[in-house]
Amino acid sequence: MSYTLITGASTGIGKEFVREFARRNSDMILVARSQSKLQELTAELSPSGVPDIYICAEDLADPQSPRKIYDFCRERELRVELIVNCAGFGFAGEYGTMPIEELQEMIQVNNCSLAGIIRHFVPDMIERKKGEIINVSSISGFQGVACLALYAATKSFIITLSEALHEELKDKGIKVIAVCPGYIETGFHTRARQYPEHSLLPVSNPSVVVKASIKGLLKNKLHVFPTFLDFLLVFLQRFLPRAAVLKTAAFLAPFKSQGDM
Ligand SMILES: NC(=O)c1ccc[n+]([C@@H]2O[C@H](COP(=O)([O-])OP(=O)(O)OC[C@H]3O[C@@H](n4cnc5c(N)ncnc54)[C@H](OP(=O)(O)O)[C@@H]3O)[C@@H](O)[C@H]2O)c1
Repeated sequence: MSYTLITGASTGIGKEFVREFARRNSDMILVARSQSKLQELTAELSPSGVPDIYICAEDLADPQSPRKIYDFCRERELRVELIVNCAGFGFAGEYGTMPIEELQEMIQVNNCSLAGIIRHFVPDMIERKKGEIINVSSISGFQGVACLALYAATKSFIITLSEALHEELKDKGIKVIAVCPGYIETGFHTRARQYPEHSLLPVSNPSVVVKASIKGLLKNKLHVFPTFLDFLLVFLQRFLPRAAVLKTAAFLAPFKSQGDM
């Protein structure tokens, strides 16, 4: 039986992926730290055990977590054919005020664990000549964003890694796509201490991201932009000097401290 592995499955966009795949009767392995949230979701979506859902509660800030997730699947003989790398978090604010512990944690969760998960599962996919990988990045990954500096850099990493793997694996029967949303209504912004209501950009629903991702995966599109505006903001960069791109990004993603509200 083939399984879909979803990280960041407990809330927001990842949870919406779980709902969509449950509607499609896909068997899944859900990864996040909050075991209780994953249990509630499983009880709601699979009361009779169909689809088959496994919970793999792991902290992706642990460098060993990709290996543990892979071992979890191997021990149960779960064949992972689709990976949705969705777990991630950000920090909005001046770089000098960012908690130092969060710096390492963000790189580990957003980048090292994502890269590690792919590295563990991809040899099996190559052997079967079949596999799909959805990496959730962001439009912030296409340029530096002032006051979202490290987060935007981690999302650039995901775009670059996805581009390389897309090219490297396409003749081996494996699809790799990078999904690049703008603002989405989830708990992300509270954790990031960010206030999207202060931005001129609209805030979309997580289902917009999930629908676009599945459509993009069918066509093996390298970059998937959930809305036309997401596409336009990145496309227009081709015609602007880099300094103007950076100014626009900082303007559209303004950091507001709680005192400014
Ligand atoms: N919301 C937006 O505007 C937006 C825009 C562009 C891209 N994105 C990207 O979309 C992805 C999902 O974000 P979201 O908006 O859905 O935010 P969210 O609701 O805060 O979801 C984040 C998910 O990541 C998991 N996670 C965070 N730290 C983790 C850790 N150390 N170990 C394991 N899991 C961890 C969380 O689960 P636990 O807390 O249970 O561990 C949760 O399931 C992120 O990669 C984000 O960068 C979001």
